[in-house]
Amino acid sequence: MFPALALSMQQLQPAASLPLLSCLRRAYSTSGAAAATNWFSHVEMAPRDPILGVTEKFLADKNPDKINLGVGAYRDDNGQPVVLESVREAERRVAGSHFMEYLPIGGLRDFVSESVKLAYGDDSPVVAAGQVAAVQSLSGTGSCRLFAEFQRRFMPHSSVYIPVPTWSNHHNIWRDAGVAQNGYRYYKPETRGLDFEGLMEDIKNAPNGSVFLLHACAHNPTGVDPTPEQWQAMSKLMLDKSHFAFFDMAYQGFATGDCTRDAAAIRIFIDDGHRVGLSQSYAKNMGLYGQRVGCFSLVCDSAAEAAKVESQMKLIARPMYSNPPLHGALLVSKILHDADLKQQWYQEVGVMAARIKDMRGLLRHNLQQLGSPHNWQHITDQIGMFCYTGMSGEMVDTLAAAHSIYMTRNGRISMAGVNTKNVARLAEAMHAVTKEAKM
Ligand SMILES: Cc1ncc(COP(=O)(O)O)c(C=O)c1O
Repeated sequence: MFPALALSMQQLQPAASLPLLSCLRRAYSTSGAAAATNWFSHVEMAPRDPILGVTEKFLADKNPDKINLGVGAYRDDNGQPVVLESVREAERRVAGSHFMEYLPIGGLRDFVSESVKLAYGDDSPVVAAGQVAAVQSLSGTGSCRLFAEFQRRFMPHSSVYIPVPTWSNHHNIWRDAGVAQNGYRYYKPETRGLDFEGLMEDIKNAPNGSVFLLHACAHNPTGVDPTPEQWQAMSKLMLDKSHFAFFDMAYQGFATGDCTRDAAAIRIFIDDGHRVGLSQSYAKNMGLYGQRVGCFSLVCDSAAEAAKVESQMKLIARPMYSNPPLHGALLVSKILHDADLKQQWYQEVGVMAARIKDMRGLLRHNLQQLGSPHNWQHITDQIGMFCYTGMSGEMVDTLAAAHSIYMTRNGRISMAGVNTKNVARLAEAMHAVTKEAKM
């Protein structure tokens, strides 16, 4: 029945130890009939993604008052997704563009150069000297993945130091790139703040020349960032230790509402002479979640080195996805290129950050009004999109089962999902599940 296949299987006899071929040989038995089996029949159900799995549970809930505080996507005070006015205007300007060709492997040049300036600063000497190798990427996730692959290729025996805790996908990204992972202390449950001593100790004890993944601002999931002084101390110590800092900046503008202030850590490191790596994402700060638009850059010693490094970045990207998507990059470059549009966007990021800050205040106030025995100061101390409440996995389960309120089991609330209409109900439910507990 499959003579061509039978012939080629024989020809391929020496490679019969390959699992795929042996399965095919079994499937297409000597009778020539296809057996009802395949080489992926043993594949098991993968575990749900801890973050996206929350949305699946939320969608299955029939309660009209259900609340989703799982995914980090901004919502307005009516719980609706937002398209920024600056983005709408950029869309008007892009509409009708007759350019729908492939982008180059490294993406839209204008977009890349504006992105790099946004992160490192308009007057950054390393940008002016052409020392920054950069490519457009598939949002923040794609940037991290490109870097992890770059690290494996060019520092094959290195591992990556990842904060404990971190965005859960970081572990998947470096695992799939085949890079070993170590944790460094970051969060102190007792203070619900930064474990600065632990962090400095771990930086000090790591072998010289280690790679450290740092959240540039609005740390996910804790909402806890180092102060500028602490960043300075980290930078000095990391320089002494010849460590390499890879910054993941998924929330520029979302921490303080000011894109320049939120990039301060990167600029401190650059001023100190570090050669850093950086992942940028426009998912949150421009609301371009589904457009998958980001930028991956590495600061090199010279323009000549940057050219070589960039060529290798493209070599990694080419077999992964050939070239990045066009539309989102056009929107971002329109906004960043036009002084008025850029100003409007800055202001809109500020509004989103301010609304989240207000909700932090309101949630804490409501809990206090209910007579909660716990100190909820960390809700307002933490910044960015997330609040690491300190609630346990069991409490989170009860919130879902008894109150139709959904969040990740580490007790992380996406503050972007909190609004003036649901904050009272959220506070009541949190009070109900925590009032008898020791926290
Ligand atoms: C810390 C961190 N890095 C990277 C990302 C990647 O986001 P995206 O790939 O949507 O840009 C996220 C998104 O939640 C994040 O929180």
